[in-house]
Amino acid sequence: MSAQTLPVTPLHCGPALPVIELAQTDRLRALHAQMRDKRACQSTFTFYADQVIRLLLEQAYALLPFSDYQVTTPLGVPYQGKRLATGLCAVSVMRAGESMEFELQRINRDIPIGKILVQRHQQSKQPHLYYSKLPGNIADGYVMLFEPMLATGGSALCALDVLLEEGVRADRILLLNLLSSPAGLARIAQQQPAVQIITSSIEQGLTEHAYMLPGIGDFGDRYFGTWQAEAV
Ligand code: URA
Repeated sequence: MSAQTLPVTPLHCGPALPVIELAQTDRLRALHAQMRDKRACQSTFTFYADQVIRLLLEQAYALLPFSDYQVTTPLGVPYQGKRLATGLCAVSVMRAGESMEFELQRINRDIPIGKILVQRHQQSKQPHLYYSKLPGNIADGYVMLFEPMLATGGSALCALDVLLEEGVRADRILLLNLLSSPAGLARIAQQQPAVQIITSSIEQGLTEHAYMLPGIGDFGDRYFGTWQAEAV
């Protein structure tokens, strides 16, 4: 699968940010249409979202370093393959980021997965870190940070701060999201230009309530089915 590296040049801020937007193929747009449709039930939504997540993960793996690895086939013939040449873990920004863990575990059965809980503080209204649990040795390798909706970028920046304080190199962080807003990308570009973002769609913009347009609605609620619980 080919992808496009877009130098997103944000308004009012410094360096361009390397953003990989998945190639907008008919196949990807078909997955998006199913997922974005407001009539999609939970199982339809997760079925198609998982496929987009798989594409994001494959793109992320394509950026990782691999080294030579030889095996012998049952015919006694050597096969020159590759294997990951670096430590790798994932960190989910709760709750929506946890949706990306299922496909990851289908690719890599033993990958450590950390959690970060960021929510808007009641008084300050700013993103606030409530909880984090990170894998040991996280600073030694690459980290895939799962934040499916990059809207204002506030939660992602808070989560990035946690990783950087833990000693992770910014240029070894891959921030994966299904949708991203130009404003969110611009904030990351300004504050963490070395972080690599991989997205399946750069959206048109944000509503006054920070929902993306054309958007998908509340991703966490749709993926985990909690909007149905509220509606009854
Ligand atoms: N979070 C969501 O779930 N959807 C958006 O559009 C923005 C943030």
